[in-house]
Amino acid sequence: MRRVTLTQYLIEQQRQHGKVSPELRLLLEIIARACKAISHAVSKGPLAGIGDAVGTQNVQGEAQKKLDVIANEVLVEANEWGGHLAAMVSEEMEAPYKIPNRYPKGGFLLTMDPLDGSSNLDVNISVGTIFSVLRCPEGMMEPDEKAFLQPGVNQVAAGFAVYGAATILVLTVGNGVVGFTLDRELGYFVMTQERIVIPEDTQEFAINASNARNWDLPVKRYIDECLAGKTGVRGKDFNMRWVASMVADVYRILSRGGIFMYPQDSKYKEGRLRLMYEANPMSLIVEQAGGAATNGRARILDIQPSALHQRVGVILGSRNEVERVTRYHTGICRTDVRQIPNEAPPQTDEAV
Ligand code: F6P
Ligand code: MN
Repeated sequence: MRRVTLTQYLIEQQRQHGKVSPELRLLLEIIARACKAISHAVSKGPLAGIGDAVGTQNVQGEAQKKLDVIANEVLVEANEWGGHLAAMVSEEMEAPYKIPNRYPKGGFLLTMDPLDGSSNLDVNISVGTIFSVLRCPEGMMEPDEKAFLQPGVNQVAAGFAVYGAATILVLTVGNGVVGFTLDRELGYFVMTQERIVIPEDTQEFAINASNARNWDLPVKRYIDECLAGKTGVRGKDFNMRWVASMVADVYRILSRGGIFMYPQDSKYKEGRLRLMYEANPMSLIVEQAGGAATNGRARILDIQPSALHQRVGVILGSRNEVERVTRYHTGICRTDVRQIPNEAPPQTDEAV
């Protein structure tokens, strides 16, 4: 069997489809190399104290783990010198990281979550790296926060690595979604999924059910209907999975379908996940794989961001299920709500 490496894939995209410029190819190869280094560090586990807290908090007020900080440094150091980037934004840094003057600047902006799901590190469950690539607006030599505030439809590439039993890199350059697996002996990524397609229907949902008391009515309705199984309105049984690492949950959905939800609720009024470096890249990947991604009311990729670390509700995965939950938000009426068992009627005819 012909083994297609990440480099070969990118060169093919450059030659045949014009989707990848040499500068973008360099960027993506550098990210892949950084992911290899992070994967290596993650695999050391407790031997390297990777789950240890460092006593600091990130901009979101979350406790930083040693490896959160290491992964951020690896990505920044790998990307600052190549001449392909104008600036970077990371979950671990409050302000955009400007490329030092000693290095040339390029035409792309990178946003990243260096280590997604890091609360899972100390229990040896998959974590990952998420990234999104935007173009730097023309003529902006010193890009500030505003340069990054572009809707997700503007992304030229997005991807994530999941550091699980195998290290897998999922990538889109706007021409479908491909998956690569790290060959640890040879040291490079080999294509293992040529065209990832999410089935339109599913019987598997992912949500943190401990937030159930905070959910809005449309989410409660959807989950109640799934839980009712064969005897309920859906007429089929559903299974539930929740890894608590978005990278692992989304990878499962890309592999066999499903719906992932971290919706806005009465506790997370803006949502829990970050738009610029979690929701947007995952939404582009999911859409490129034939799925859908909304915040319950609107397509995530159309949202105009107003802040770098903005949060957003996320409902993504198998198209028919995402459309159903979105319909429950946008088209709900009193009659619909009364079908929810044990649910108090809403104050208005509108979705809450
Ligand atoms: O980055 C945020 C994150 O770690 C996601 O990877 C994951 O989906 C979510 O938080 C887990 O949230 P919770 O702790 O509520 O299960
Ligand atoms: Mn994350």
